[in-house]
Amino acid sequence: MSNLRVLITGATGTTGSRVAALARSAGAEVRTASRHNSDVLFDWHAADTWPSALEGCNRVYLVPPPGIDIAPAMMPFIDLARRSGVERLVLLSTSVTPMGSWAAGVVHQALAENGSDDFVVLRPSWFMQNVTGEHHLARMIRDEGRIVTATGEGRVGFVDADDIAAVAVHALVDETTPAVELVLTGPEALSYRRVAEIVGAARGRPVAFESVTPAELAERLAHTYPPPFAQALAQLDALIAAGAEDRVTPDVEHVTGRPPRSFEQFAATAFRPAGGAVIGNAEGN
Ligand SMILES: NC(=O)c1ccc[n+]([C@@H]2O[C@H](COP(=O)([O-])OP(=O)(O)OC[C@H]3O[C@@H](n4cnc5c(N)ncnc54)[C@H](OP(=O)(O)O)[C@@H]3O)[C@@H](O)[C@H]2O)c1
Repeated sequence: MSNLRVLITGATGTTGSRVAALARSAGAEVRTASRHNSDVLFDWHAADTWPSALEGCNRVYLVPPPGIDIAPAMMPFIDLARRSGVERLVLLSTSVTPMGSWAAGVVHQALAENGSDDFVVLRPSWFMQNVTGEHHLARMIRDEGRIVTATGEGRVGFVDADDIAAVAVHALVDETTPAVELVLTGPEALSYRRVAEIVGAARGRPVAFESVTPAELAERLAHTYPPPFAQALAQLDALIAAGAEDRVTPDVEHVTGRPPRSFEQFAATAFRPAGGAVIGNAEGN
């Protein structure tokens, strides 16, 4: 393990921070990388920050930059990483972007086309953590006491970022890679109506659920995000409404040896009832 030196991009984010902590506990030498508050300054859009970030590292966790056209920034970095002696790359993609589709799906295809088996692609479903912190769903819950989506009764295999990180660390440090591609979900697919019920029960105050059209959602989200991104998010909701994310996979348990955490278990530690005792990490309130 002592010869494992892991570069973690997106290291201050939801998964990167967890991957860094777990990889350290697993005995790897970790270098965190992002534009702020990391061991090294790293910017996907500033290639002069890449060589010092990579120096001496043989494994890399890749969190894509925000946006859709990400391959032009990521592929030159991946080429440099391979030339610099990196032996394994673990890419955070999404369940909704299969190889060759768009965004991280394009990077996934480019990794595969290289003909090398030096990579693992993680394709998690929607994060449970979206209902906590600064995500727009979390703010809706806090500010308005409701969840508004365009998902109808469509269901999603929400996954805990701790489970994603656990899988990522196996993919980074184990002697052999678990698989080339892993689709990561929690133990059950849930509608947002059910998520609202679970979060309401966990925080001790009800959360309403409202489903609107994708156009109405895009208009609403355009107050928070650039309009093209707001439209893309609304289109993802339309896919969920059509059943595209209604699935669970055995991949978390297959890699970690334990079942993924349920939304109820997650919510019980992320929220606390109003006026009640603190239960675990109360980041959700
Ligand atoms: N949320 C979900 O439900 C969900 C589901 C499946 C997949 N995903 C995927 O998860 C990815 C985001 O991962 P995450 O949630 O772990 O991260 P995150 O919490 O969104 O944080 C983003 C990280 O990337 C860094 N970053 C942002 N812009 C950068 C740039 N130009 N150069 C270098 N670093 C930059 C940020 O730090 P600095 O700002 O300091 O640089 C931060 O550390 C996205 O690709 C998304 O598609 C999300």
